[in-house]
Amino acid sequence: MQSKRHHFGPLLLEYKIEKDLLTKLIDIGKQMKRSANESLASNMESQFQYEPENIEWIAEQLQPIFDDYKKQYCDIMYEHIKSNPSSRFTISKEEMKCWKLKHQSLWINFMKSGEYNPPHFHDNCNISYVIFADVPEEIFKENEEYVGTSDGPGTIEFLFGTNYPEDFCSRKSFLPESGTMFIFPSNFMHTVMPFKSDVTRTTIAGNLFFNMVNLDILRKENENDTSD
Ligand SMILES: [Fe+2]
Repeated sequence: MQSKRHHFGPLLLEYKIEKDLLTKLIDIGKQMKRSANESLASNMESQFQYEPENIEWIAEQLQPIFDDYKKQYCDIMYEHIKSNPSSRFTISKEEMKCWKLKHQSLWINFMKSGEYNPPHFHDNCNISYVIFADVPEEIFKENEEYVGTSDGPGTIEFLFGTNYPEDFCSRKSFLPESGTMFIFPSNFMHTVMPFKSDVTRTTIAGNLFFNMVNLDILRKENENDTSD
């Protein structure tokens, strides 16, 4: 039996980050001193912003992942525009190629027992990501022993739409291991459940925006071409 799947909704992609890079990201993060708390929705005490020179280096390491996400995101957008002529997006495929994901902000979280992140999304950016850099074994054990109807301690949950039945897949929950990275549109609602174990879980999160400088240049070039 042949079928064609028509799945739609926010583009949530998962990647794996190698251990060496995770160690470097954590080592740099541990040196950071500027608190990120004021700009975040979470109930966590130890969250620190990376400095611009660190962001530049980290962006270089993660750029292949950002480029892959951007390509898939643009493919979907292009298909959407093609099949919806009245779409508010009027951008061409050539123009999309000139987009580059750049950091708006980047921070490290040291999540401790009882801390959590309520349902929220990220403002003033286009794409966000989170890397689970160091997840202690105790959290997996605690989650396994959890009795209840939610997905349990230490999970991250993405929420889409209203409270549809489960077969609409309006919620997707994960208990990520060290090295797991999720990238998603910034306005995709998500929440992080607390854990009780006396351990620290380290995550690194960033906000990205589509750099439009190149797009402006391309538009100018196109204008010049037309006038010739
Ligand atoms: Fe978040």
